[in-house]
Amino acid sequence: MTTDQDWLAWHERYDEPGSRLARRLVVVQDRITRALDTAPPGQIRALSMCAGQGRDLLGVLERHARRDDVTGVLVELDARNADAARQRVRELGLSGIDVITGDAALTDHYLAYAPADLVLACGIFGNLSDADVRRTVGFCEALCAPGGTTVWTRHRGEPDLVPRICDWFVQDGFELEFVTDPGDFGVGAHRRRADAERRALPPGEIMFTFIGYLTMAQRGCE
Ligand SMILES: C[S@@+](CC[C@H](N)C(=O)[O-])C[C@H]1O[C@@H](n2cnc3c(N)ncnc32)[C@H](O)[C@@H]1O
Repeated sequence: MTTDQDWLAWHERYDEPGSRLARRLVVVQDRITRALDTAPPGQIRALSMCAGQGRDLLGVLERHARRDDVTGVLVELDARNADAARQRVRELGLSGIDVITGDAALTDHYLAYAPADLVLACGIFGNLSDADVRRTVGFCEALCAPGGTTVWTRHRGEPDLVPRICDWFVQDGFELEFVTDPGDFGVGAHRRRADAERRALPPGEIMFTFIGYLTMAQRGCE
């Protein structure tokens, strides 16, 4: 594994009532719910990078009226988390959702699924260099369909990258739908402009290197 902590244990904080992660999940799930609520009739394509156990998307699909319209893929490197997501998908009977155990940075994983109506980049941007966050936002042009929504997260605190991430999405053909006020976590949702240019996802590209925030803090990374 290329990362710097136990990402299975990381998910346990979701189960602590009132924890930052539990509160962040509520906000992320609200944005996912709104994206599904406003999706036109028919198939809704979704993809989640570094999906973990998929608690955000699967937690919404568990109870959403459009659950059977949703198809797509969750990509997660840690086999234990991917297995947990796969098991939840089975329990919920979500036959349109695939789970790939692999490196979410590789565009090849998404070629069959992009462009998606809902792109999740949650728990990634705090673990990348600023340059890779910028690069990954750029790939969202091809990952996210015109009219589709990208939901993302990033911790707040100095230096606060959230305003720059918002600018980057707008530069790349997205409109700001929502961003949290400064606080102890950041969640954003950007809608790809309906008139935005359709971009094909290039095969064989590596979008980012997942460094991990502990390693980044130790290195004093930008
Ligand atoms: C901060 S967690 C976020 C999980 C999930 N998206 C969420 O918000 O609940 C980061 C996840 O990325 C996974 N991960 C780390 N490097 C990865 C990579 N290169 N490709 C796919 N997943 C990766 C970790 O195993 C971990 O589950």
